Amino acid sequence: MNGNMRRMIAPPEWRCSVADLPAGRSAKFRLRCGGRTVEGFVVNHAGGYHAYVNRCAHVGTPLDLWPNEFFTEDGQWLICATHGAVYEPDSGRCTAGPCLGDALIRLPLRREGDAIVVSCPRE
Ligand code: FES
Repeated sequence: MNGNMRRMIAPPEWRCSVADLPAGRSAKFRLRCGGRTVEGFVVNHAGGYHAYVNRCAHVGTPLDLWPNEFFTEDGQWLICATHGAVYEPDSGRCTAGPCLGDALIRLPLRREGDAIVVSCPRE
């Protein structure tokens, strides 16, 4: 494996500074988990950080048709741009739309000082 290929592989953890994720904001990332790449996103909802796999519980498309657009206009919910499923930001539970009662897959998230660290989903 040469240096260029090594740089293209996503890491098993992703981190960012809390200063880069103020309330109402989100960020996208990729993780390398068990030989596959997982696209995820993290949101700051009312001061709480929550990370999920970027895959709608309805038919599995990414939620954001426009990159990094996850919140409804009022900032209270997460919404899938494909068919409009609505999710609770703090639980990932679908509260309206075609996947009512299902949920996003949560990614483990921890604080390390002023950083947020997200890791691969538990098998
Ligand atoms: S794929 Fe998200 S609502 Fe259909």
